[in-house]
Amino acid sequence: MSPSSRHDTQTSLRDAARLLRGCQRLVVLTGAGVSRESGIPTFREAQTGLWARYDPAQLATPAAFARDPRLVWAFYQARREKLHSAQPNAAHHALAALEARFPHMLLITQNVDSLHEIAGSTRVIRLHGTLDADRCSADCQGSPTPVDRHALPAPEDGRPPACPHCGALIRPDVVWFGEALPAAALRAASEACASAEVLLVVGTSGLVYPAAGLPAQARAAGARIIEINPERSDITPLALVWLSAPAGSALPALLRMLDQAEPSP
Ligand code: OAD
Repeated sequence: MSPSSRHDTQTSLRDAARLLRGCQRLVVLTGAGVSRESGIPTFREAQTGLWARYDPAQLATPAAFARDPRLVWAFYQARREKLHSAQPNAAHHALAALEARFPHMLLITQNVDSLHEIAGSTRVIRLHGTLDADRCSADCQGSPTPVDRHALPAPEDGRPPACPHCGALIRPDVVWFGEALPAAALRAASEACASAEVLLVVGTSGLVYPAAGLPAQARAAGARIIEINPERSDITPLALVWLSAPAGSALPALLRMLDQAEPSP
């Protein structure tokens, strides 16, 4: 089974199902591609609309927030607005169904939408935070200091509300470029990958570390890697099976293949 060429999908689905059957330690790693069919653009897709002229990497930084908190706050409010109209797609539902079949499955996500949890996934490790949550930008009560923005008066001038404890501005509870990932989440993800039998990687370019280093860590510890991505990514060379298809169709098809009896060799 080699992913160097795009196997026909049936062959790859059969190979992936064979790897999953009987797997005791299944770990899943998702990226923006799993939410693409919910209408949420991926990071490397061209930004469209109002924010097309801004590079997210320029806005999602502590320096940008210090320089122009109003602009960064508006950028995140616009993303939250878009998220409120998004629903989990078939990929999210299939991953929740997979968790029901594999009682020890852990799902590590780089995404900041909460579509996995809305679809019913319960064992989720969130590496990059949560878009719809906020915290005090000074973490005045400890790291993180969660704050409910809905309970605070919204300043007239569009700046972020003030922390009710210390008066500092509140900020979205997401990891910005140049910031460390939440230590407990990264440790849990690393430990899961170090003991995974199979790592199912869905919808990530594998470009942004340290999350992008998890598949190589799992592979080095003996895990077999299945990738679902319509395009080749930095993960593809590590994959034993590459399902080159959108997650919204590949994951339900993989579940259906798991339902079929193991075909005779
Ligand atoms: P990217 O935008 O880098 O990659 C998305 C991947 O999803 C690409 O490889 C696409 O080919 C693939 N894709 C697109 N549509 C898909 C579909 N329907 N099904 C499956 N895959 C599909 O997004 P990420 O890899 O998630 O970091 O980016 C990683 C991190 O970079 C993000 O978490 C963010 C960003 O900077 C932070 O916010 C800290």
